[in-house]
Amino acid sequence: MIIAIDGPAGSGKSTIAKLVAERLNFTYIDTGAMYRAFALKVKRLGIDPEDQIQVVSLIENTDIKIEGDKVFLDGEDVSQFIRTEEIGNIASKIARYPQVRKFMVKMQRQIGIKAKNAVIEGRDAGTVIFPDADLKIFMTASPQVRAERRVQQLKEKGFLVDYNHILQKIIERDKMDYERKESPLRPTEDYIVIDTTGKSIEEVLDYIINNLIYKK
Ligand code: DC
Repeated sequence: MIIAIDGPAGSGKSTIAKLVAERLNFTYIDTGAMYRAFALKVKRLGIDPEDQIQVVSLIENTDIKIEGDKVFLDGEDVSQFIRTEEIGNIASKIARYPQVRKFMVKMQRQIGIKAKNAVIEGRDAGTVIFPDADLKIFMTASPQVRAERRVQQLKEKGFLVDYNHILQKIIERDKMDYERKESPLRPTEDYIVIDTTGKSIEEVLDYIINNLIYKK
C-alpha cells in the first residue's frame, strides 16, 4: 500500500507523513530530502542553480540514498546540512529541471516498490511518482501559518530566524513550486485536501487514519 502526501513548504506534511508511517509501520520516504541533498552538492561545488546544463550534467554523476530519516549524498550522511532555508530554495530551483526530476522519480519509485508499504511525501508523490497510490493527501495552510511553523522548527534547531524573511521565502518557493512547467505542485481530483490552518497534529493524523480505514 502506498500513501502519497503532497503539499507546499511548511504545510506540516513531513510531521504528519512520519507519524502516519510510524503508526502503520510503513516505510517513510521523504522525497524533498533527496532534492535538498542534491541542492547541497550544487552549492558546495559553487554551481549556479540557474545553470541548467551544469546542474543536469552533475545529477548524472550523483548518488543519493535515503535510509529512514537519513539522506546520503555520494556516500556521505548529509542529513544535518540540508534543513536550511537556503538549501530549500536551491532545491526548489533545481527541481524545475525535467532531467533532475526524471532521475529522482526513478529512484523514488524503486524505493517505494521495494518497501511495498510506504508513506511517500513531496510535491508529486501522488501525481507522478505513484499515480496509483492507494490514498492521496494534499496538505495546505496559509503562508503566514506555514512561516510561523518554520520559524518555530528552525528555532528549535538553534537557528536565529526572522519571521518576515521566512514568510517572504515561503511565498517565493510556493511560486516556483506551483508555477513550474514540470510537475507543478497541484492536487488532482483524487486527492483529499486538508487545510491544516488551526488544526492540531492529532486531528490531522486521526482524519487521515479514518480515511484509510474507510478506503479499505
Ligand atoms: O519538502 P521540502 O521543503 O523538503 O522540498 C524542498 C524542495 O524540493 C521544494 O521546494 C521543491 C522540491 N521538491 C520537488 O520538487 N518535488 C518533490 N517531490 C519534493 C521536493
